[in-house]
Amino acid sequence: MEVTRIGILGAGIMGNGIAQVAAQSGLAVTMRDVEDKFIENGMNSIKTSLGRMVKKEKITQADADATVARIKCTTDLIAAVKDVDVVIEAIPEIMTLKIDTFKTIDKECHGRAIFASNTSGLSITEMASSTGRTDRFIGMHFFNPVPLMQLVEIVRGYNTSDETINVIRDLATKMGKTSIVVNDTPGFATSRFAATLQNEAICAFAEGIASAEDIDLAMRLGMNHPMGPLQLADFVGLDTLLHVMEHLYEEYGDPKYRPAPLLRQMVRAGHLGRKTGKGFYEYTNE
Ligand SMILES: NC(=O)c1ccc[n+]([C@@H]2O[C@H](COP(=O)([O-])OP(=O)(O)OC[C@H]3O[C@@H](n4cnc5c(N)ncnc54)[C@H](O)[C@@H]3O)[C@@H](O)[C@H]2O)c1
Repeated sequence: MEVTRIGILGAGIMGNGIAQVAAQSGLAVTMRDVEDKFIENGMNSIKTSLGRMVKKEKITQADADATVARIKCTTDLIAAVKDVDVVIEAIPEIMTLKIDTFKTIDKECHGRAIFASNTSGLSITEMASSTGRTDRFIGMHFFNPVPLMQLVEIVRGYNTSDETINVIRDLATKMGKTSIVVNDTPGFATSRFAATLQNEAICAFAEGIASAEDIDLAMRLGMNHPMGPLQLADFVGLDTLLHVMEHLYEEYGDPKYRPAPLLRQMVRAGHLGRKTGKGFYEYTNE
């Protein structure tokens, strides 16, 4: 099966990044969000990212314009998925929201379409079971920022077919990414480790062990991480990190996954990191 048309649900941090790389690889993309203002923000991020690439002479202005022209935007869920080969869902990390969405589109999409979730660690098998296409349901986990990060973690649900794995592996390659295939377990092979480190860094910060800057420097200069865990948490979004930790804690029942109380407080206060301008650091809109 050749993938030429792709529907992306969510125009947030991940949705707009996935839309950008998909369109850059020549695919016809429809990006859907619930309100026009989220779509506008998403398209602005894409244009800013492409503009940076033009400035660095990685692509031409004509490439950037052609990429933007390949992305259609809509708030209409059904229009976004009606005739696509693959749907990639990048809406908030809340299982009920994802299941409701997949149930709705399952009735509207043609039978051979593949559904992929960009979840950071929720059960692919559980989402798949809400549809009539458990063999054509898969995890396609991109990393932030999508245009720069090389990995796609492909997650095999309990009933995902080998054919679906192959189609999505080829799609990831077409989008310029390197993929790994992992089995469906909470947090997969990436979020489980990364979220746990970020959560531990938040605990250490709350205990007053060091400033946010020094905790991040410790991991950057001492462990050669490209970005410190608190800065990374700000980039991921503290609400998303909290959802991931709550899920790991619930699924494994192990206290080592307990969300840091400060993380919960910051989410309640609306300090979600870079996307709201304030988290462990302050951000001004670029
Ligand atoms: N942020 C990261 O670093 C990261 C990395 C990998 C995976 N993920 C996963 O990607 C998904 C999206 O995360 P994000 O960081 O892009 O979140 P985000 O909050 O930036 O964006 C989510 C978008 O989905 C929209 N939305 C809400 N309900 C919707 C619906 N029913 N249909 C369509 N759009 C809807 C919201 O308006 C918002 O614009 C989550 O599952 C998250 O765990 C995030």
